[in-house]
Amino acid sequence: MARVFVTRALPGTAVERLAAEHEVQVWPERLPPRPQELEARAAESEGLLTMLTDRIDAAALEHAATIRAISNYAVGVDNVDLGAATERGIPVGHTPDVLTETTADLAVALMLGIARRLAEGDAFVRRGEWLTWETERLLGHDLHDSTVGVVGFGRIGRAVGRRVEGFGCRVLHTSASGGVPLPQLLGQSDFVTLHCPLTQETEGLIDDEALALMKPSAFLVNTARGPIVDTQALVRALHRGAIAGCALDVTDPEPLPRGHLLLSAPNLLVLPHLGSATHATREAMADMAVDNLLAALGGERMPHCANPQVYER
Ligand code: DGY
Repeated sequence: MARVFVTRALPGTAVERLAAEHEVQVWPERLPPRPQELEARAAESEGLLTMLTDRIDAAALEHAATIRAISNYAVGVDNVDLGAATERGIPVGHTPDVLTETTADLAVALMLGIARRLAEGDAFVRRGEWLTWETERLLGHDLHDSTVGVVGFGRIGRAVGRRVEGFGCRVLHTSASGGVPLPQLLGQSDFVTLHCPLTQETEGLIDDEALALMKPSAFLVNTARGPIVDTQALVRALHRGAIAGCALDVTDPEPLPRGHLLLSAPNLLVLPHLGSATHATREAMADMAVDNLLAALGGERMPHCANPQVYER
């Protein structure tokens, strides 16, 4: 029986399966444990089940000599220093596949939401300004038959591509292994949607220069990770009208503090990181995260390991 710290309550019954085999502590609060608290809990645990809001860097691992397995409740693992974990022989689990379609659904919802001005329409009705049907009120732009540029053509990027093909869109993509060059994608797309992981190479990928390559009529959508977009550059582009609008499910910083300058930018739709947020998907993620941890703590290979090199050591 191992000691396991779960950094937030999870939906469904997955944690019960974990608790049937191990001594489990679940962080009971709405806000994540502060770094010091996380370090203290990690120092007395063998397994960690972490959220994307928990930073597990080399220094944190330094203090966590007893940790044998980390399971991240997300497909993205940019919050964990994979190199440092691998060096220490710690497998890091993640939750691919189960959230692909749900996240792709949200990316398309954001494209439609920003282009068809859904939030503005809702606010207009609630303010009591809907006095009659008007020929030029809240006109937007079509998704159908447009060109959609998918940056990062992995599982989620492809799922978005399949969806918008159903809208009659032409799909361009760029990925580490092919597609069109990014400048071409940016220059030709009516919608640019980001689906690459956050790495040293992709941090700040959408900067002043990239935004300047986009058509002034184009929309940017980010359901990947906030720091892929340079926030200051985006604010400048929106204020200048350099792009038509932007829909974000992820931001930098995240969460966005009240009154953040991004919130004063025009033509912006912003959500609080809801890509995988459906009942079914969040429960499936919990099951996968627990399966990863159970396997590793039981001395088996993690079924979904983000640093498989750890098994080659
Ligand atoms: C992930 O899994 O990386 C998402 O951002 C949250 O589900």
